[in-house]
Amino acid sequence: MRILFIGDIVGSPGRTMVRDYLPKLKDKYHPHVTIVNGENAAAGKGITEKIYKQFLEWGAQAVTLGNHAWDKKEIFDFIDDAKYMVRPANFPQNNPGKGLVFLNVNGIEVAIINLQGRTFLAPIDDPFTKIDILIEEAKKRTDIIFVDFHAETTSEKQALGWYVDGRVSAIVGTHTHVQTADERILPNGTAYITDVGMTGPYDGILGVEKEAVLKRFLTNLPVRFNVDEKGSTQLSAIILTIDKKTGRAESIKRILINDDHPFFT
Ligand SMILES: [Fe+2]
Repeated sequence: MRILFIGDIVGSPGRTMVRDYLPKLKDKYHPHVTIVNGENAAAGKGITEKIYKQFLEWGAQAVTLGNHAWDKKEIFDFIDDAKYMVRPANFPQNNPGKGLVFLNVNGIEVAIINLQGRTFLAPIDDPFTKIDILIEEAKKRTDIIFVDFHAETTSEKQALGWYVDGRVSAIVGTHTHVQTADERILPNGTAYITDVGMTGPYDGILGVEKEAVLKRFLTNLPVRFNVDEKGSTQLSAIILTIDKKTGRAESIKRILINDDHPFFT
């Protein structure tokens, strides 16, 4: 079972990269499942129903979220009907949407979990306690479990990775927008990377126009942050191979496409 996961899609530059490269990535890697993180997909903050549906049309089977999940007000109108939208499971209990979603891939079930970290992010329920509950729930149906852990610090992500080693197929980090080079299979069979990286502007700062971010650093004055739409773009992803009988990961490979890392078929 091969799973392709595309990291934080930022604004229209990120969406264009998904539209243009997802077919090429599918031709090259033949994933059975494609999952994308769409929490920054609408102008850098949140997601709309139109964009969610576009991702599914372009070939994704599920869309994960993060701390910007609620930034576009219309999310409250459609999230409960969006069967393949996965929001952080450790938001307070009565939040709309789901944090664990099952996909059926040619008769094989794949569980997708989204969780959010607590360090340098808004207060939220404990992801460590929550993941125990979610794994137990998922295991009733499948051993193939994919986790998108949307968190700021490398330490919190590594900690949750080690905590679930051998209990999930893969746990991959999102949110920092910078791809890390520490992809590995942990000793008990869980694929891990601290951050998959971002899909969107390559010449901005974390996807935002660099002039605005520089002004903030140089002056400390309030500055409006907009997605950088004028520079070049990039796509960050990983491709996983998972043993469909045991749920153990067999491989994890980083994908980075930009001017400095061109795509080869
Ligand atoms: Fe985020």
